[in-house]
Amino acid sequence: MSPWLAAFGLLLLIPGALGFAILPGESLNHLEITERAILNATVQACRELAKAEGADFTFPTPPFTAMTVAEACGTPKSSKSFRLAITFIILRNIRVDIRHALNASFHFDEEMFFQGRKIITEGIRVIKANNKQDNFEAARQKLGEILHPLQDFYSHSNWVELGNIYPNPNLIRSDTSIGNIAEESRATCRNCDGDDCRNNMLEDIIEEGILTSGYFGLVPIVSTKPKGKCSHGGPVDQTSNTEPKGGINKDTLDSSHGHLHMTAAHMAVAATSELLEDIRGAAGIRTFLQMMGISKGSSKALCFVIDTTTSMSDDIDAVQAVTSSIIDSGEGTEDAPSLYILVPFNDPDVGPLVKTTDPNVFKSAINSLSATGGGDIEELSLSGLQLALTSAPSNSEIFLFTDAPAKDKQLKSTVTALIERTQTVVNFMISGSTVLNRKTHSDGELNRISESEAELYRDLAQASGGLAIEVTKSELPVATSIITQSSSSSLVTLLQAARNPGSSDTFSFMVDETIMNPLVYITGRSINFTLTSPTGESEQSTNSKGSLIIKSQSVGNFQTLQLDKQVGLWTMNMVSTNPYTLKVIGQSPFDFLFDFVEASQGPFPGYDALDTRPRAGVNGSLLVSLTGSDSATVTEVALVESSGSGEIKGVVASQGSGNFLVLIDRIPSEEFVVRVKGNNGPTVFIRQSSTNFRASNLTITADSSSILEPGTPFSVPFSVMSHEIEGNISIRATNNQGFDLASPTSLFLEAGNRANDTVTLSAPLNTPSGTDVTLTIEAEAPGGQDTNYVVMRFSVFSTVTDFAPPVCKLLSLQSNCSDSCSSSMWELSVQ
Ligand SMILES: *[C@@H]1O[C@H](CO)[C@@H](O)[C@H](O)[C@H]1NC(C)=O
Ligand SMILES: *[C@@H]1O[C@H](CO)[C@@H](O)[C@H](O)[C@H]1NC(C)=O
Ligand SMILES: *[C@@H]1O[C@H](CO)[C@@H](O)[C@H](O)[C@H]1NC(C)=O
Ligand SMILES: *[C@@H]1O[C@H](CO)[C@@H](O)[C@H](O)[C@H]1NC(C)=O
Ligand SMILES: *[C@@H]1O[C@H](CO)[C@@H](O)[C@H](O)[C@H]1NC(C)=O
Ligand SMILES: *[C@@H]1O[C@H](CO)[C@@H](O)[C@H](O)[C@H]1NC(C)=O
Ligand SMILES: *[C@@H]1O[C@H](CO)[C@@H](O)[C@H](O)[C@H]1NC(C)=O
Ligand SMILES: *[C@@H]1O[C@H](CO)[C@@H](O)[C@H](O)[C@H]1NC(C)=O
Repeated sequence: MSPWLAAFGLLLLIPGALGFAILPGESLNHLEITERAILNATVQACRELAKAEGADFTFPTPPFTAMTVAEACGTPKSSKSFRLAITFIILRNIRVDIRHALNASFHFDEEMFFQGRKIITEGIRVIKANNKQDNFEAARQKLGEILHPLQDFYSHSNWVELGNIYPNPNLIRSDTSIGNIAEESRATCRNCDGDDCRNNMLEDIIEEGILTSGYFGLVPIVSTKPKGKCSHGGPVDQTSNTEPKGGINKDTLDSSHGHLHMTAAHMAVAATSELLEDIRGAAGIRTFLQMMGISKGSSKALCFVIDTTTSMSDDIDAVQAVTSSIIDSGEGTEDAPSLYILVPFNDPDVGPLVKTTDPNVFKSAINSLSATGGGDIEELSLSGLQLALTSAPSNSEIFLFTDAPAKDKQLKSTVTALIERTQTVVNFMISGSTVLNRKTHSDGELNRISESEAELYRDLAQASGGLAIEVTKSELPVATSIITQSSSSSLVTLLQAARNPGSSDTFSFMVDETIMNPLVYITGRSINFTLTSPTGESEQSTNSKGSLIIKSQSVGNFQTLQLDKQVGLWTMNMVSTNPYTLKVIGQSPFDFLFDFVEASQGPFPGYDALDTRPRAGVNGSLLVSLTGSDSATVTEVALVESSGSGEIKGVVASQGSGNFLVLIDRIPSEEFVVRVKGNNGPTVFIRQSSTNFRASNLTITADSSSILEPGTPFSVPFSVMSHEIEGNISIRATNNQGFDLASPTSLFLEAGNRANDTVTLSAPLNTPSGTDVTLTIEAEAPGGQDTNYVVMRFSVFSTVTDFAPPVCKLLSLQSNCSDSCSSSMWELSVQ
């Protein structure tokens, strides 16, 4: 944002300045327009699918919601991933107003019709290419970006004033006429009649069907409004004070042309539906629905990251057995995974990634794994995990199998960044220390993961809310079968805590009426506990003859307890001096999704999702949505410190459409989890994030286009800021595709000042269009105590499809140079 804009901070309070308003009110905003269109397009797609399959289809009763649509589609368990997809698309839509506030092309202002259409049509091609490669996150990101200008067209141009009753079909095609666009010199508006702008458009413009749009500017002096042109209008737009005064936007009911707001907004919904239908046409119905997070089965991914070095052959057998059993038992049921991901890693190879919706393809990929090579002791486990984290949908669960320490420890912070940003749970299955399966050093020493080497895996498991299970090779099949029981869908986290170093503590968790199969997971050694039910009944680990624990299983450092379902508050008193983790889960439709967001710093209001850690020690905000019920509400949101009992509660405000904005006074400097309390009628429920989050005193921002052309260096400018930290900041940039990357290694920061630099990424020329790449730029404070990062996803897209190099053909050569051609005459003709 240019410095002079900072002076306009006061304008923050003016709602709906540019584009359909983005705060709730009576008018329809980008959020509601996008959501309505997605729900409509998805219902239509499901109806078509049912028709094709000869199945019955019943439309849900309007107004549609993510839940009623997922149910109508016959995939009720998808309602959470559908909600997640919708929110993601909406946040990307809103981001356009924050990041490209003053670029007229993104808003169809200033008669930028060709430029606006180019953004849309180029985006459509990228989305189609992404979908061909099942890169749905990248597709959703682009979709949000292009829906914004598409919707703005109906508010900012005179399409509605011209009497059109259907959307402009030519905004989603690149080879047609957009309409009869006003010449640059053509006057289009006259002064409004005071505040009344209903008749400010010139009659000849309307009569001749000439297309125009409003000019917009924040500062009168730099206003570029040509003579006679319409303005956008409204208090922020300074061009509307110069003749012709007033404006034509239809952003809200109170706008200059507010009387046409509803017409424009409904047309924006229809135009959005049509764009989605175009994408569906190219992708096919099933792929389209998957892009929206809707699929048969559990909507969860089954994701394995497997060490395939020589000593892993028993582990691979165990994975093959468990995969078969998950697939066979889940087949055709609601618990069948909707996506399968496999990342084998060896040394020096990682991958290839297998990502498929076909269980048989996955089974055969798993069955064809064999254990070979490996050489030294350490393996590239974190590189494998990085690839899995960037390929799996957000909120997935990953299982990593290894018996070796990580060779690529330097990726720990990158992996942590990806865990935090995707809220993915990572479980480590660490095997190996039985006599038969030892790997040996060249000098004959035993290969065993040392305590400190396992610590790396434990830290990552804990950060993600996953388990680090340490077993012998012979125990592995038992551990694997226990843990994959939890691959069933609709699992929610009731409590998750860790103590490292170990210390005795009492934890409580609430089991509500909706919870089925409450389960306790404990990792750690020599741990005693006392469990107390809501009725006051107690049971101890040392005497498991009570009735509270239906079944208890124990293997290696891992123990599970299946609890009797008693509704109410339970307590668990843990007694240990060793480190331990405690996790309580259950199945329930009620859960929550959330993002850290920040209020726009620019001239227009709105909240932008963070791709970074939130700032520590200052206020912050979260956007929370509930799944499982359309009538449930959030009553309390707290950030709870992971290591103790400190917590900070936020102020909750409903935003409509099941979204809640939560303002937090101070984001903790300590690691924390997010706990949400809600109710649905008389049912009170408490849920917790699996992920442990951290805040930072460093702020890092980066912005660039989201399309990367193969063979062309792609610059990502970024900047780092801090009020508390100064000195040399270490910079580390990594990407998940192994593309060439140039990055500074440090940046000198003066407290309170911004330091900036650039990372350059290059995709090889033959990278297929639709590939996505995730770039992580990390900044680490001197001493390494504080790190922040920014995680960005780009799509590779080539406008060039002909990769054959030009062929040079010699037509004639005449030369007399026997010695030196540079000093002789010669003649050459080539084609
Ligand atoms: C506006 O955005 C378009 C599309 O990204 C870009 O080509 C153009 O340079 C931008 N204009 C300005 C003034 O930044
Ligand atoms: C719903 O989508 C269909 C196309 O899929 C479109 O024809 C229709 O206009 C849309 N309805 C609304 C209210 O936008
Ligand atoms: C756990 O209980 C056993 C049996 O009562 C006891 O021997 C052991 O010391 C206890 N461990 C701890 C950490 O309290
Ligand atoms: C934090 O507080 C400041 C000052 O009161 C305010 O301007 C800002 O919008 C707040 N930020 C968030 C995210 O609420
Ligand atoms: C941020 O700085 C404050 C004051 O220097 C310090 O107390 C806090 O621990 C720091 N937070 C983080 C996350 O490093
Ligand atoms: C920062 O790094 C530069 C060069 O790497 C060095 O010259 C300078 O002394 C360092 N400054 C501090 C405060 O460490
Ligand atoms: C850093 O920002 C300044 C001011 O915005 C700009 O002039 C400079 O070119 C930027 N430097 C880099 C390396 O991006
Ligand atoms: C090469 O030499 C011949 C004979 O000396 C002359 O006729 C001819 O023009 C020369 N060709 C060139 C390209 O200089």
